[in-house]
Amino acid sequence: MKNGLVLFFGGFAVLALSWAAVLLSAHNQFGSLAQYKDPIEETLHPAPLTGLADRGRLVYQDLGCVSCHTQQVRRDGFGGDIARQWGVRQSVARDYIREQTVFLGHSRIGPDLRNAGARAYANEEYFYNLLYAPQSQAPGTNMPAYDFLFEVRKIRPGQASPHALKLSSKYAPPAGYEVVPTPRATALVAYLRSLNDSYEYPEARPFVAEVPKGEAKKEGGH
Ligand code: HEC
Repeated sequence: MKNGLVLFFGGFAVLALSWAAVLLSAHNQFGSLAQYKDPIEETLHPAPLTGLADRGRLVYQDLGCVSCHTQQVRRDGFGGDIARQWGVRQSVARDYIREQTVFLGHSRIGPDLRNAGARAYANEEYFYNLLYAPQSQAPGTNMPAYDFLFEVRKIRPGQASPHALKLSSKYAPPAGYEVVPTPRATALVAYLRSLNDSYEYPEARPFVAEVPKGEAKKEGGH
């Protein structure tokens, strides 16, 4: 069949060209995104993850936290993420440039964690206690306990760990024992505490919640 070949190569060319167009246009739009330099403070955003937080990112990936938690704040009008205080602005592509694997997620059994480190109550102790015994921080939650990230060990006389968890009596280990985070827990908590996208990029600005007329934004000027 003479036309068979033409048909085959024609079809192939159409598919190849549309594939390339999708890929190239996305690359053109996002591929060259770099850190943004604040013109006043001269600081670069987003700041790279510290070594410890970057290792914690791998623990987060390894444990599948993404199956219950998203990391993407939708703008006002597309859901109540900002009203729920999951972020002060919508997420933009630049927020993710420091991450090799982006944990956008698609299921929100738990809260969005893109700004987990920015929550007022989210100190180290809160994260450790939540991972060891979620019920101690959120009674009734279906978040599983990640107690295997901790070591329950006998306190050596006079050598109690300064990093031992301070747990309420219901979750505390037996007398004479202490619960100490393993290096994986320490890295994961460093990662969670690094999650804070509050810097306002120019591209995020048009979608920031409305400011009452005549009231200038404090952080303006970058
Ligand atoms: C089965 C689903 C599920 C999985 C898996 C899960 N979580 Fe959660 N997580 C939840 C739920 C539900 C809550 C909300 C608890 C509450 O009621 O406050 C939560 C809350 C949290 C919070 C507190 C958020 C806030 O706004 O204060 C953090 C931080 C968190 N999870 C981290 C993790 C990490 C890290 C992992 C992986 C090691 C993980 N979660 C795995 C369901 C899950």
